[in-house]
Amino acid sequence: MKQIRILMVCLGNICRSPLAEGVLRSMLDKNSFLIDSAGTAGYHIGDSPDKRSIWVGKQYGIDISSLKARVFVKEDFERFDYIFVMDKNNYRDVLSLSNSQEHKEKVFFLLDKLNTPMEMKELPDPYYGDEKDFISTYLAIKEACEVISSKLKI
Ligand code: 4NP
Repeated sequence: MKQIRILMVCLGNICRSPLAEGVLRSMLDKNSFLIDSAGTAGYHIGDSPDKRSIWVGKQYGIDISSLKARVFVKEDFERFDYIFVMDKNNYRDVLSLSNSQEHKEKVFFLLDKLNTPMEMKELPDPYYGDEKDFISTYLAIKEACEVISSKLKI
């Protein structure tokens, strides 16, 4: 069976999307699913996730400490089957690199949980927040990934 490839995208690829990558990966079979993440901006290329994302993941048994930030590139539309964005800016920036309807149809809002029609529910950036914001970010990601993983496993 063909492996399903999923990309999580946020702005910096250090707070939300690496957490989403780690959480979804923990819920899916490694042979059947490939999970990755990227940012729309290059501020943090090669950096580890934000300490607070590593910390909150660790609280819940998810180790994302070895991940490294990279930028979303247009080739990702070919490499991935599903591209999950966190907010409307991510959505706009990702779509600005797409050149076909087929590519556009791969892009979903994480918090929409593959529901249709698209609601464009946003997961706010916790970068300027505190640990509490990282905990609520984690919990929102976990809830969305539970729904998405159960839909994709069928
Ligand atoms: P992320 O959060 O998009 O969830 O990784 C951010 C990380 C860094 C910056 C902005 C958002 N920054 O401006 O450096």
